[in-house]
Amino acid sequence: MSDLLRVRGLTKRFGGLVAVNRLDLDVGAGEIVGLIGPNGAGKTTAFHVISGFHVPSAGEIVFKGASVVGQKPHAICRRGLARTFQIVQPFAGLTALENVMIGAFNRTGDVAEGRAHAREVLDFVGLGSHRDAPARTLTLADRKRLEMARALATQPELLLLDEVMSGLNPTEIDQIVGLLRTIHARGVAILLIEHVMRAVMALSHRLVVLHHGEKIAQGPPGEVARDRRVIDAYLGESA
Ligand SMILES: Nc1ncnc2c1ncn2[C@@H]1O[C@H](COP(=O)(O)OP(=O)(O)OP(=O)(O)O)[C@@H](O)[C@H]1O
Ligand SMILES: [Mg+2]
Repeated sequence: MSDLLRVRGLTKRFGGLVAVNRLDLDVGAGEIVGLIGPNGAGKTTAFHVISGFHVPSAGEIVFKGASVVGQKPHAICRRGLARTFQIVQPFAGLTALENVMIGAFNRTGDVAEGRAHAREVLDFVGLGSHRDAPARTLTLADRKRLEMARALATQPELLLLDEVMSGLNPTEIDQIVGLLRTIHARGVAILLIEHVMRAVMALSHRLVVLHHGEKIAQGPPGEVARDRRVIDAYLGESA
């Protein structure tokens, strides 16, 4: 499997706090990798650094064979790496369609083309009937879909998803799992942060576990779930 994303020795310090510590992480083309670990482990910080929202303190981030360290988020996004945010922040006063058009404009400057593409993506995520609803009127589940639609409209090869299932009920979670399988089947690799264990276990080909900024385990979900350090640090005995 060819490497799409190759992270080596990634470190992010905030003053004296080492939020991410010498992280090595790969995502291959066509892969779904789950990034898990307790609250404060450094998962979101890793996303911020990989997607260009934070500058790393040290380390290498290579996407499709070229370093993206020091590049701005929109430039990294245009290369094909899109991400969602843990705290979804759509432009509340804009409609669902307008929010997704902002993503589409990462690829085209043509308004009609951007609108047409945004409509397609909204239909794809199941928000077609809410196209003209102001984003602020959407339910949490729909705002999560909108966040994914905005990212998908940038036409990523790798999608970074930060807790797109949190706060959703079991039915809504199943729907998102189905949607992620469809996105993956269309050829998009996925790196997902998720606390909903049954979903991340079912979806991921491989898991990477962070604890206090450090990778403490990686491997197939079944193996990682039996790892003593992972059980002690995160999963607990019931898993
Ligand atoms: N901008 C910042 N300035 C200072 N400290 C930060 C900043 N962002 C994150 N941190 C700290 O870095 C650590 C890692 O936080 P991060 O948000 O990456 O964790 P997480 O694994 O995403 O947790 P959760 O599962 O709760 O979302 C925490 O101790 C957090 O308080
Ligand atoms: Mg987080």
